[in-house]
Amino acid sequence: MCGIVGAVGKRDITPILLEGLKRLEYRGYDSCGVAVHADGELKRARSTQRVAELVEQVAKEELAGFTGIAHTRWATHGAPATHNAHPHFSGKNGTPRIALVHNGIIENHDELRAELTQAGYVFESQTDTEVIAHLVDHLYDGDLFQALQQAVKRLQGAYAIAVFCRDEPHRVVGARQGSPLVVGLGDGENFLASDALALAGTTDQIIYLEDGDVVDLQLARVWIVDAEGRQVERAVHTVHLHTAAAELGPYRHYMQKEIFEQPRAVGDTLQDIDSITPELFGDGAFKVFKEIDRVLILACGTSYYAGLTARYWIESVAKLPVDVEIASEYRYRDSVPNPRTLVVTISQSGETADTLAALKHARSLGMNHTLTICNVATSAMVRECELNYITRAGVEIGVASTKAFTTQLTALCLLTLALAQVKGQITPEREEKLLKDMRHLPVAIGAVLALEPQIISWAERFAGKEHALFLGRGMHYPIALEGALKLKEISYIHAEAYPAGELKHGPLALVTEAMPVVTIAPNDELLEKLKSNMQEVRARGGELYVFADSDTRITSGDGMHVIRMPENYGKLSPILHTIPLQLLAYHTAVARGTDVDKPRNLAKSVTVE
Ligand code: M6R
Repeated sequence: MCGIVGAVGKRDITPILLEGLKRLEYRGYDSCGVAVHADGELKRARSTQRVAELVEQVAKEELAGFTGIAHTRWATHGAPATHNAHPHFSGKNGTPRIALVHNGIIENHDELRAELTQAGYVFESQTDTEVIAHLVDHLYDGDLFQALQQAVKRLQGAYAIAVFCRDEPHRVVGARQGSPLVVGLGDGENFLASDALALAGTTDQIIYLEDGDVVDLQLARVWIVDAEGRQVERAVHTVHLHTAAAELGPYRHYMQKEIFEQPRAVGDTLQDIDSITPELFGDGAFKVFKEIDRVLILACGTSYYAGLTARYWIESVAKLPVDVEIASEYRYRDSVPNPRTLVVTISQSGETADTLAALKHARSLGMNHTLTICNVATSAMVRECELNYITRAGVEIGVASTKAFTTQLTALCLLTLALAQVKGQITPEREEKLLKDMRHLPVAIGAVLALEPQIISWAERFAGKEHALFLGRGMHYPIALEGALKLKEISYIHAEAYPAGELKHGPLALVTEAMPVVTIAPNDELLEKLKSNMQEVRARGGELYVFADSDTRITSGDGMHVIRMPENYGKLSPILHTIPLQLLAYHTAVARGTDVDKPRNLAKSVTVE
């Protein structure tokens, strides 16, 4: 997950490049860099710090130019070091001629590296990107657009590329395959970016490039060819920042778009919090948190599963007892109220009738300390509750909740820390460590999203099934529930979730060769127990589809399919393990041809009982 910005203009475009990088920083911040065409030469600044530091460096070095590219990196090939930071230069005899940035992974980089080394190129980095820079230089014969068209034919993998050349000062060329890239149209100037967001305030005229496209940006002209080299027209969209959510962009469905927006959504939900205070939840929160001695969570559907996950966090970290209730049930059953309860509602829309009614019911029972985790600041839920935390998922259009869920979990994790702090249950060191891990979430989610191609191949098999089981243990059991809900909601495959230890108490009777069993296998204290449960499934011929943390030593074999999660994420692992289940449901539904964004019989906001 990297961010790209490029510009060709008649003014100094460095501020535009740097502003774009700031907006894309959530995509990765291992390093960043910018290169411009200045006085007939290529000049660059690179940093392993944040974009803010790069801005200072650029000012100090007085870097300025009419044409340039910039990049913020999430490291794949090569450590986060300056020599691996983009832009990469190429040119024989030590004189840079080509400057290039790239997002994605080039699978055949070893083979190309060997070939280009043979041709006399000396590599300065471990990146796959430098291979592309040298390849373009190698193929360059006075026309950068042609050189890039030829170069991409040699690349295997995913990429968004922006490149410019010392010998063609008013030109930036780009290419896209599998990684997003947009063109921004200006007046006598044009832009490239991996997300329209990067260009907000510069232009609202956006073209979403398609896979295989190569684009030629000059001062007064934008020229696009497709993978076959045919000139193509791509629609121009007017994208105001507040309307960006309604644009599908390069995605096929809103659900897919929203799944891929999660790094940004989670990052925004964390805002720039550098320390935990109860006041994050509103004025007076400290007093409320001091007074309460238990928590009651009320919610529906996916939001209810967010609540179930939070119970594990709050009980284990803040040591407060937590009840989680399905809102539509709670309001109609006799329960024993406790006025020292913090009533927490969770809702994307803030308008769900059952949750609102449950909240009122709790209050009618004398529980007046209320807090909502909600995505809509102007909603009834926010108005009704004493305290709130607004998630910053942005507008969620797909009926299936995706980014709303992971941002709810993010907010609930903050709540856990705030409660633990007020209750004196957490050391400053542990609090800081968890907050640090949270700040890394956007990058970690980005790495999980990169598993999409492997998940698509599973989805093709799932498309032919009519039933599926989902297994999880501990705090991953609610994630199994959420995975099953996603699958049934949009693909119409009947799916059930169980805590894995419960299988032998009944559901095992369903397991045959026809039953796919999706298993969430984090490397936690329940792993060995989970492995035994998996053996119970295999012994009955059930096919296991396992999302395993890379250090679990669970490997693919007969009837056992494994996708490795990039990293073990401790307490925050449920957030990461949600992502592949969303992708599995989405691609299974696409393969079955259902109406993904508007599944039958459902609505986005359930405002009736
Ligand atoms: O707006 P809310 O979060 O209150 O909505 C609750 C449920 O209706 C919602 O989460 C529903 O279960 C989703 N469509 C599931 O993907």
